[in-house]
Amino acid sequence: MKILVTGASGNVGKTVVQALLDYNEEVVAAGGDPERIQSLLGQQVEVVKFDFTDATTFDKALVGIDRVFLMRPPHLGNPQDLYPFIDSMKAHNIKLVSFLSLMGVENNPIPPHHKIEKYIEKVGLPYAHVRPGFFMQNISGVHAEEIRTMNQIYVPAGRSKTSFIDAADIGLSVATLLHDPEKYVNTSHTITGPESLDYFQIAEIISQVNNRKIKYANIGFLKYRKHYIKHRKLDQKYVDVTVALYFMTRMGTAKKVTNGFYELTGKHPKSFKQFAIENKKAFE
Ligand SMILES: NC(=O)c1ccc[n+]([C@@H]2O[C@H](COP(=O)([O-])OP(=O)(O)OC[C@H]3O[C@@H](n4cnc5c(N)ncnc54)[C@H](OP(=O)(O)O)[C@@H]3O)[C@@H](O)[C@H]2O)c1
Repeated sequence: MKILVTGASGNVGKTVVQALLDYNEEVVAAGGDPERIQSLLGQQVEVVKFDFTDATTFDKALVGIDRVFLMRPPHLGNPQDLYPFIDSMKAHNIKLVSFLSLMGVENNPIPPHHKIEKYIEKVGLPYAHVRPGFFMQNISGVHAEEIRTMNQIYVPAGRSKTSFIDAADIGLSVATLLHDPEKYVNTSHTITGPESLDYFQIAEIISQVNNRKIKYANIGFLKYRKHYIKHRKLDQKYVDVTVALYFMTRMGTAKKVTNGFYELTGKHPKSFKQFAIENKKAFE
């Protein structure tokens, strides 16, 4: 039987695909544009057209599938958007779903991941929730533009600390769970990078690696919201979810460092310094 990977073109999904192929699993990569996904991931994977908001795509995506990597696309801020597909997985007798959740949501009902985890458990789907810290790819992805053009990390995280993790380490964790479904049924895993850093320290590391001064802007929520919605033209719902996440970060919810990645994989997670070296070009 095969494993369906949702969000297969995304930060985490593409690393899940690669790690599953390394385990010699058969993978079906799901997304809105199958041709684009095929050219991104290569011919070893089967691709299927899939949309969480279009239930007519579910049955075809689940043919021959017994395990699923489930992620919530960032612009789907309403947890209910994922419920029809969760129901469909239950109807197809999926034997393990690994959901990309978020560190700390077991004690925090505000992020959509909390309700999605609860719904998966309520319908009785065997689960292995992965609750990562913030992704290092936030810095090399959505926030790289301000680093490149303004020499600033433009986020409203105050002086809080974050235990950033590399998306590839999340992908390996998910693949480890899906590769051994009986062992990991009905488990949850909080995984983080090796250390907790504030954004002043992140700016210092990027400055050293790129040999120019990058500052942490330490802006307020209103300025952040205005910049990313008005100037960057990002989806308002996505920006609002991130405002809530940065608010929680200021309360200290993103700083915990766990041993979860090592316990699952027997490997040490990547440091931010190493990530910055490998992704130097993103900040040039
Ligand atoms: N960033 C962080 O620090 C962090 C930390 C913890 C948890 N998370 C969670 O991780 C998730 C984001 O993961 P990511 O960064 O890997 O995602 P991403 O890179 O933003 O990619 C989004 C993916 O969603 C797919 N997608 C978009 N609309 C879709 C739809 N209607 N139906 C099906 N697929 C759709 C896209 O595929 P197509 O374009 O092919 O459709 C794409 O592969 C979010 O739930 C976020 O809350 C993020």
